[in-house]
Formats: sequence, structure tokens, C-alpha cells
Amino acid sequence: MQERPKRVSAGGGVERPNLARLFDYYLGGAHNFAVDREFAERSIKFFAADDAARTTRSFLRRAVHLCATAGIRQFLDLGSGIPTAGNVHEVVERVDPSCRVVYVDNDAATVAHGRTMLRTSTTAAVVHADVRDPDAVLNAPETARLLDLDEPVAVVMVGILPYLSDDDRPADVVAKYREAVVPGSRLVVSHLTADLEPEMMGKLVHLGTLAGTTLTPRGEAAVAELFTGFDVLAPGVVPAGTWHQDGEDTSPSSCLSYGAVGVRLP
Ligand SMILES: C[S@@+](CC[C@H](N)C(=O)[O-])C[C@H]1O[C@@H](n2cnc3c(N)ncnc32)[C@H](O)[C@@H]1O
Repeated sequence: MQERPKRVSAGGGVERPNLARLFDYYLGGAHNFAVDREFAERSIKFFAADDAARTTRSFLRRAVHLCATAGIRQFLDLGSGIPTAGNVHEVVERVDPSCRVVYVDNDAATVAHGRTMLRTSTTAAVVHADVRDPDAVLNAPETARLLDLDEPVAVVMVGILPYLSDDDRPADVVAKYREAVVPGSRLVVSHLTADLEPEMMGKLVHLGTLAGTTLTPRGEAAVAELFTGFDVLAPGVVPAGTWHQDGEDTSPSSCLSYGAVGVRLP
């Protein structure tokens, strides 16, 4: 049997691994420490955690690129992690350098990394807030400075909603963001699901508990409901690894999340 990774903290000094730095390592970034790399290597042996992270990040890149080429110039990335390894500002600024990006995370170490990375940027910033508190996110000084809510915004919730329990009422949380943006705005969601690869999802949920986090996968209907009042763009709610993918990705890790993009109707 493969060796299981040791328990880790979701927070952050250099003495214990940190979730966002683990993601950074899985994605080939440089914002991680030896303690993160050691845990990450164990978790990759236990379960292809790096594949799963890359699939999600690849969906994120394709989705925000599509939004930018459709004319969206403002992005609100909720539960962003460390904005590295091909993250939103890097993708959309290539389409138009005037794009503005607000990253939001509730983990102090992640926010500190992000703010250091973006300290010279005039178009991207990090808000330290909990996505379950839309008022705090939408009224944060960085949001007010960079985003004009009278113009369309892409609200990005990639890999974040499984961190919300059913008691957090994720559908109501998403509804508040949907209601805050004008017609033409986009909603980008990826969400872990046990619909397609239940055994692998079990391993991923177990990894989450080792990281001190309860992950809640959800089914297709619950993900589709998040787009109430929005038109879900083709190809609909589909495995994230296959969404707008050239060439078919049939690897199991491409089926661990659903991905979809919707546009707010007038
Ligand atoms: C899976 S990771 C990064 C996901 C990132 N969007 C991506 O696509 O790579 C999830 C991030 O969400 C953050 N997070 C978890 N719960 C949160 C909450 N309630 N509010 C804000 N951020 C949260 C974690 O700190 C972590 O950095």
C-alpha cells in the first residue's frame, strides 16, 4: 500500500505545509517551502493531486481567456490561492493589459504571498476576506479601487465552493455575487464532484482531512443551480478537463470537477 501523507495545517508558517503553497507546488510554481514539497510528493504518490490541480488551473485559464476575448475587463477571483503559475491576471493581461483583477483569499499566509507578488501592480490586488461574506469582499478597498460594478465582471469561483459546507449555504452565497453584477457579467465555476470518479474523490476528500479541511463534492444539479438567472454557455456543466478543450482529455483527474461558465441575462 502506498504511504499516506502526514497530517498538515491549513494555515501557514514555514514549519508546516500550507494548502495554497501545496497548490503552487502542484502547479509548478516557486512559492513553496521544503515542508510543502515533502508533503506534496507524498500526496502525489497517494493520489495524483498534482494532476487534479493542473486540470482545475487549466480550466481556469481557458475560462477567463474566453471571458476576456468576449470583452470582459474585470475579474473577481474568489478563493484564489497564490496568484501564480498562470493565474488570472497573467492570462487576461495578455488579452488586454488594462484588465483589472481582484483576488480574494481568507488565508493570511496566502494573502501575504499574493500581496508581495503584486506589490508593483496597478491592475491586480489581493483582498483578505472570507468569500462567505460577500459584503466584506465587495466593499473591500481593493475591490472599490479596481472594480466598477456598473460594468460587467467575471466572478470566478474555481476550486473554492467545496470548502463551503452545506451549512454555509453555498447556493445563497453565490446568489449574492450573482445579484451584485450587471447583465453581461460572467460566472465561472469549477466544483469537485463524486459523480464521475467516486473512488478517486474519496482519496481527495481524505487528503483534504489531512490538510485540516472538509471538502464537500456536489452533484451536477447542485452545480447547475448556481447559475440561476444566468445563461450557461456551451458546452454546459461538463467535466472541467473537457470544457473547451482541444483534443479530448479522458484521464480520471479530468472528471473530478465540473466546470461551467454562465452569462448574466438582462
Ligand atoms: C484549491 S485552493 C486554490 C484554488 C484556486 N482558485 C485555483 O484554481 O487554483 C483554494 C483556496 O481557497 C481558499 N479558501 C478556502 N476557504 C475560503 C473562504 N471561506 N474564503 C476565502 N478563501 C477561502 C484557501 O485558502 C485556498 O487558497
